[in-house]
Formats: sequence, structure tokens, C-alpha cells
Amino acid sequence: MTFAATILTLYPDMFPGPLGLSLAGRALERGDWSCEAVQIRDFATDKHRTVDDTPAGGGAGMVLKADVLAAALDSVQPPASVRPELVEGPSFTSSAAQQEKSGASTSSARTETYVGRPILAMTPRGKPITQARIRELAAGPGAIILCGRFEGFDERIFAARGVEEVSVGDIVLSGGEPAALMILDACIRLLPGVMGAASSGHEESFENGLLEYPQYTRPYEWEGRTIPEVLRSGDHAKIAAWRKARSEEDTRLRRPDLWDRHGGGRGQPASGEQ
Ligand code: ADE
Repeated sequence: MTFAATILTLYPDMFPGPLGLSLAGRALERGDWSCEAVQIRDFATDKHRTVDDTPAGGGAGMVLKADVLAAALDSVQPPASVRPELVEGPSFTSSAAQQEKSGASTSSARTETYVGRPILAMTPRGKPITQARIRELAAGPGAIILCGRFEGFDERIFAARGVEEVSVGDIVLSGGEPAALMILDACIRLLPGVMGAASSGHEESFENGLLEYPQYTRPYEWEGRTIPEVLRSGDHAKIAAWRKARSEEDTRLRRPDLWDRHGGGRGQPASGEQ
């Protein structure tokens, strides 16, 4: 199955960008994933091709218009209730739509149930992405990713189209495109056959809720610094124990947030997922 990525953006030339090279580029050539960049401006309806407007209530900047975003989204994945004959692919109810149905949102507007790929909007206001969510996305049919640039999105688009707001960290980018590239890169490397022998899967940072242990390679001594002796011992049990201890220690010191979620060394992870 091909992982189908569709990016809605004002800068379609940014895609596949770096994902056209190296591991992801070869996977793209093989057809392990597909990359379609859609120009949001093509869905503007006025002669100036306007995609944004001033913020309601005043203030700086511009806001991407809900009607233009909806037209762009519906062109790549029509709501089932609008054009059921056009909807293909495995059943998927977006988490935003589920949240809405369960009453988690305060909006009283009706939310469509979408069938197909999850729709993600890149925004620093979103839920921080996790490796667990990346794994879910990579196991699915693909993703539709909405990118804003400078501007925010009209908030109504999220509930109206079952859009999941996603952040790639507590930093502010000048647009969602680099965030979309990050999400896609993280998904693509998990697709079957993409990593090949290079895959070390569960040994990596976050795959078990901890940071990975440090790595070394030859020469044994470099600028007066040596490799930990245990790694030269050939004793696999001792090496595994050392790696586990370093993984735990580094997580506790560098990422106390992850360490607490993992259970702080008290057996089971506190919340199961990272
Ligand atoms: N757009 C701007 N900043 C962002 C961030 N941190 N995550 C996702 N999208 C963004």
C-alpha cells in the first residue's frame, strides 16, 4: 500500500523538497509513498485570488479563510455526506471528529464524519506530535496536511472538517511547511521496506519511551577521549545492561518529562504512550 501524502500549501514548490532525496527520495521513486502538493490559492473565488483576511476583533497579521481552506480540502477528500460516491479507501474517523462527537469541543456546529485519510493542520497551537501518533499515521493510508504561513487558520475549519491540529514543538516557524516535512519524514522511515537493514526500530529514542543510549565507533581513542570499556568487552549481557542504564539515566537528566511519563523507573510507564 502506498502512503499517500497530500499537502495543502501556498508554497507547493517546497514539496517534496528534501524528501525527494536520500532514503525518502528512493522510497518515493519506488512508490512506497506519494507526494501531492496542492496550491491553496487555486481555491480562492475572487479575482485577486484572496486566501486570507484580517483577524476578527482586530490585531496584526492575516487569517486563512475557512471557505477557501474547505474548498481546497474538499477537492482532495470530499466529505462522505457531500459526495459519498467519491470517497475511497479504508474507513477512518478523524480524532478531531471523534472528539467533537464525544462532546469534547464546545462548538455546536455539526461535524462531518470523514472516511479516508486523517487531516492534519500544522500550527504551534496544536497537540505536540508523538512517536506513537507517527506510528499510527504510518500504518494508515496517508495524510492530508494543511500548512499556514505567517497567518493562522480560521478556527472554524478544524471542527467543520475534522482537522487534527498538530505542533512539532514549542517553537514558532514562519510556516507549517517545515513541520509537514518533519511529520512526513518520520512516517516515511517507518513504512515497510524503507529502512531495510538500517532499521533498529525499538532500540531508538522514543520507541520505548526513553532516549536512546549513546553510540561510539572507531577509533578507540580520539583527541584523548576513549570509548567506554564495556563496549569492547564482547559481553552482550553486560553491554545490554550498560545501555539500558545509560538510556534511563540520560532520559532522567535530559528529559524529566519523558522520564515521569515512563514511570520514573517505577516499573510500568505512567501513561503507556510516547
Ligand atoms: N507552524 C508554525 N510553528 C509551528 C510549529 N511549532 N508546529 C507546527 N506548525 C507550525
